[in-house]
Amino acid sequence: MTLRLLVNGEERTIQLENGQIPLLSVIRDYLGLKGTKFGCGKAACGACTIHIEGRGVRSCTYPAAMAEGKSITTIEGLGSREAPHPVQQAWIEEVVPQCGYCQPGFMMATAALLRENPAPTNDDIDKAITNICRCGTYFRMRRAIHRAATLVTEGKDSDPDRAAEKVPSRPDIKKTAQK
Ligand code: FES
Ligand code: FES
Repeated sequence: MTLRLLVNGEERTIQLENGQIPLLSVIRDYLGLKGTKFGCGKAACGACTIHIEGRGVRSCTYPAAMAEGKSITTIEGLGSREAPHPVQQAWIEEVVPQCGYCQPGFMMATAALLRENPAPTNDDIDKAITNICRCGTYFRMRRAIHRAATLVTEGKDSDPDRAAEKVPSRPDIKKTAQK
């Protein structure tokens, strides 16, 4: 089958023999976007989280054919070095990663959460972000999620994707971030 996707703002067309292969395989093996990780392969760990039409999806169990014509964002398209997404900025400021393997999935899940809920409580975070980090960086991630929410709020924009354009870097935010 011919699969047409809009990936990180670019139209991509690929030929697949089997449209039931996981979208994660298309992203990593056909498109070469290696930031999205394979972990459990069972929709349990969240390492493979991407956005489809702005919503967080675990791509290891999402059939590629179902993505036909849809808009997909991977960690490579979330922000850039020059204009990081508020979640990426917060992750840098809180020095979150340890080995780093799970972190793209957590950042994508967090960006999806902030799009729906720009000021999540700890409870909201626990319910929405069920990804797994074998290095145990959960406490730093929670601080980073609150910091990202502050960046979005101070950007006066409830949409973190748009706020990223306005708040590329805020070193002074350290003084005011929620813990
Ligand atoms: S690899 Fe997809 S949820 Fe674990
Ligand atoms: S930072 Fe190592 S698995 Fe999360």
